[in-house]
Amino acid sequence: MKLLIMGPPGAGKGTQAEMLVKELGITHISTGDMFRAAIKEGTEMGKKAKEYMDRGELVPDEVVVGMVKDRLQKPDCQKGFLLDGFPRTLAQAEALDETLRSMGIQLDGVINITVPRDKLMARLTGRRVCRNCGATYHILFNPPQMEGKCNACGGELYQRSDDNEEAVANRLDVYEAQTRPLIEYYTQKGLLVNINGDQEIKKVFEDIIAGLKK
Ligand code: AP5
Ligand code: MG
Ligand code: ZN
Repeated sequence: MKLLIMGPPGAGKGTQAEMLVKELGITHISTGDMFRAAIKEGTEMGKKAKEYMDRGELVPDEVVVGMVKDRLQKPDCQKGFLLDGFPRTLAQAEALDETLRSMGIQLDGVINITVPRDKLMARLTGRRVCRNCGATYHILFNPPQMEGKCNACGGELYQRSDDNEEAVANRLDVYEAQTRPLIEYYTQKGLLVNINGDQEIKKVFEDIIAGLKK
């Protein structure tokens, strides 16, 4: 399957993507994770991206589009993929259409996770991520078995540098202004699968699987 997962910051895209790619045997492509990997490696692209990310702004379209285009050509995408956090602007959505058309690929669905805005701040400021494998936790809503340690690999948990109140507030505004219009874009294409993300993590996952079967 070739899928997108959308929703505001903190909606649970990464959490659900982790489970979905296992269930469906497809490749997870998160543009946010790719930028964080580039920052860790200290590449030029990573240094530039970090300035935008720490402020909660979007990285310029040209940079993101080029990166995703390259990523989609890799052999592990042939078994299917789940794009997480891309596209985020109309220009990115149009560029993705063009890329997929040139590859002879069609999207099977666009998962849109909705969560009331007032719940997102608490989700993001309490998030912890494994430095080693990227697994996502929450200090209250999804705590690890051992404080500060990943259940899956024992790695150290850390807080993302854009998960502070100021950056989160900006990310939520940027979502409303630049990304929300994509809901209409994919509705018109008949691809949107709306999911209530304000439920237990397991229930959200079940709803996504059921929604994709329709
Ligand atoms: P990115 O990494 O994509 O961040 P985001 O969109 O802000 O989304 P998050 O990863 O914060 O949230 P999520 O929906 O994945 O939630 P999660 O599952 O972790 O992007 C970061 C930055 O990179 C951007 O700001 C931008 O600068 C740049 N960037 C990336 N892509 C770009 C693009 N295409 N164009 C331009 N710039 C780009 O869950 C959040 C928390 O909630 C966790 O603690 C989790 O445990 C908890 N949780 C999850 N589900 C539930 C539930 N059902 N109930 C209770 N708690 C839950
Ligand atoms: Mg994420
Ligand atoms: Zn881990």
